[in-house]
Amino acid sequence: SQIKEVAFVKSSSRAKDCPIDGLPEFAVLGRSNVGKSSLINTLVKKKEVALTSKKPGKTQLINHFLINKSWYIVDLPGYGFAKASESARTDWSAFTKGYFLNRDALVSVLLLVDASVPPQKIDVDCANWLGRNNIPITFVFTKCDKMKGGKGARPEDNIRSFHELIRQNYKQHPPWIMTSSVTGLGRDQLLLHMSQLRNY
Ligand code: GTP
Ligand code: MG
Repeated sequence: SQIKEVAFVKSSSRAKDCPIDGLPEFAVLGRSNVGKSSLINTLVKKKEVALTSKKPGKTQLINHFLINKSWYIVDLPGYGFAKASESARTDWSAFTKGYFLNRDALVSVLLLVDASVPPQKIDVDCANWLGRNNIPITFVFTKCDKMKGGKGARPEDNIRSFHELIRQNYKQHPPWIMTSSVTGLGRDQLLLHMSQLRNY
């Protein structure tokens, strides 16, 4: 399940422009700043394959990365970026809906949720929309290295609360994994999970 080779293929501004070779793909989705690009860099063990930033809204296009010449990881723009213009936000939702409902090669959405904060409405809404539309999903909880022993809820408690809020929209609870791009937690488990889904 390890990644031996990664190649950036293209950036697309519309779902229509995405690669049409039919190779299986995993779309990395989540709030701005949740750690999408960082997770991709951790998976491929390269620092700057996907560009990261402290400022939300870094990733603006649909970026396809070809892995081992046989499948894709797709870095998507984050949602919930308050500073994005009204029209950019409208475009985002039109794009995502079109992409998720029509992308045959999509094996699973990796929905990233920040485990260092309590459940956010926008993440719950997104998870519920995907669930109601029967889009296959894996929850990837990020930043599980944060808040250990600090004040506030622990990652485990935030994750449990999140599960409670989305339960009624799923027949079966989606698979979920705890990760950290700082410590590498969950990296191998996620790679194994993705290889099992591809070979299914
Ligand atoms: P957009 O492209 O703007 O949507 O953001 P993104 O989801 O790609 O987030 P990105 O990977 O750029 O990370 C945002 C910030 O969170 C950066 O400052 C990262 O260093 C930090 N970060 C990402 N993952 C982790 C993690 O697992 N733990 C901690 N402590 N920080 C993280
Ligand atoms: Mg990004």
